[in-house]
Order: sequence, then C-alpha cells, then structure tokens
Amino acid sequence: MFKRIRLGVLASGGGTNLQAIIDHCQAGSLAAEIAVVITNNPGAGALERAAKAGIPTLCINHREFARREDFDSAVVGALQEAHVELVVLAGFMRIITPAFIEVFPERVINIHPALLPSFPGMHVQQQAIDYGARFSGCTVHFVDGGVDTGPIIIQAVVPVLPEDTADTLAARILEQEHLIYPRAIQLIAEGRVRVEGRRVIIRPACPADPTALVNPAAED
Ligand code: GAR
Repeated sequence: MFKRIRLGVLASGGGTNLQAIIDHCQAGSLAAEIAVVITNNPGAGALERAAKAGIPTLCINHREFARREDFDSAVVGALQEAHVELVVLAGFMRIITPAFIEVFPERVINIHPALLPSFPGMHVQQQAIDYGARFSGCTVHFVDGGVDTGPIIIQAVVPVLPEDTADTLAARILEQEHLIYPRAIQLIAEGRVRVEGRRVIIRPACPADPTALVNPAAED
C-alpha cells in the first residue's frame, strides 16, 4: 500500500474532474486524500461537490485582489496550511504565476481539454472543430511558467465527428478526462513519475497500446 498523497484541488467550475478524483479516493483506487478544495469563483459547483464529500473548502475570489501575485500568494498560503503535497488544477481558469510554481516545483498538474501542444488556451473544443482536426483529446501535464506548456504525463485521444458541436466534443473529451486525471495522480502517488527536460519518465513503465488510430476509418 502507498502512503496517501495530500492533494489541493483548485477548481473554477462545475467540478466533474474533482468528482472523479473524489470517487476514486472513496473507492480506494486512488491513494490520495483531498486536503482542501479552493475556488476563485463563489458560484463554482465544485464547492458543493467537495462539501458533500466532507472536504474542507475555501473560496478565494480573485476579484478581491489588485494583483495576480497577491491572489496567488493567498492561494499558496492556504495550500501550505493544508500541508498539500500535490496541487491539482481541475478546471481552474486562472493562470498561475512563477512564484506559485517555485513553491511547488514539479508539484502542480493541470488537465487541458485538447491534445497538447495543439490548441492551448481557451475554447479549445471549438478551435479543434474549426481547424478541421480529425482527433482531439485531453492532456494531463506538469505546470511550468507557460500556458499549457509543461511536460506531458498522460493523454487520451478521441475522434472529432462531422456533426460535433463544441458541447458534444467537450462531453466526449470530459469522459476521458475523468479516467486519465485519477490515473496520473495515482502514478505520482506511487512515486513512479519524474521529469527529465521535456519528457516525463514513468518507472516501472506503463504498458502502451501501439495501435494506430485513423479517422475517418481506413476502410468503409
Ligand atoms: C475541463 O474540460 C477541463 O479540462 C477544462 O475545464 C473543464 C472543467 O470541467 N480546463 C481548462 O480548460 C483549463 N484551461 P469540470 O469543472 O467539470 O472538471
């Protein structure tokens, strides 16, 4: 058995990724404990989900801070107070400052609803559709100083279908997010993940499926 890693989850929205992490913790399939859920948005559904699971919550409203650095240092202070070992950005719609990352080096991870390095930033499901991409997906990565640029831990691929809207594509991607985020956290909890330059090394290695994906299908 592994020691349970203490998580601080930051969320701005509905919190379905948070819910997936809660569910895995409760089921015993994730050796983690959520020490605190912090939101910048008083209306975040994530708050309700956390409260229902008996997890301490905190709302730190970014609008009450004149500078990004001040908001970040309030968040960092709360994470430290909760003795958080891994910071999990789960639909957190704020860019964090380098000072934040310095306090938690290689200890901040994010999930992004696209196959990075394609489509960083916002509204990325619509961007993938508009670009005509045949595949999209989601990426869990370490957070570095850039926007969605850090070393990649795990990705899942989904097809973009001709009839897709941003919402239908987002739902297909979200289903995969709920699988890969708990998986990434578990690998980190097991101490199997290290960063070498841009590459994330996982030891013992995870099996990888070598099958190629083709969309539209190679044959009718
Ligand atoms: C998720 O799709 C997540 O990947 C995305 O926001 C959604 C949050 O959903 N995050 C970003 O776009 C970060 N730039 P949730 O609140 O239901 O977990």
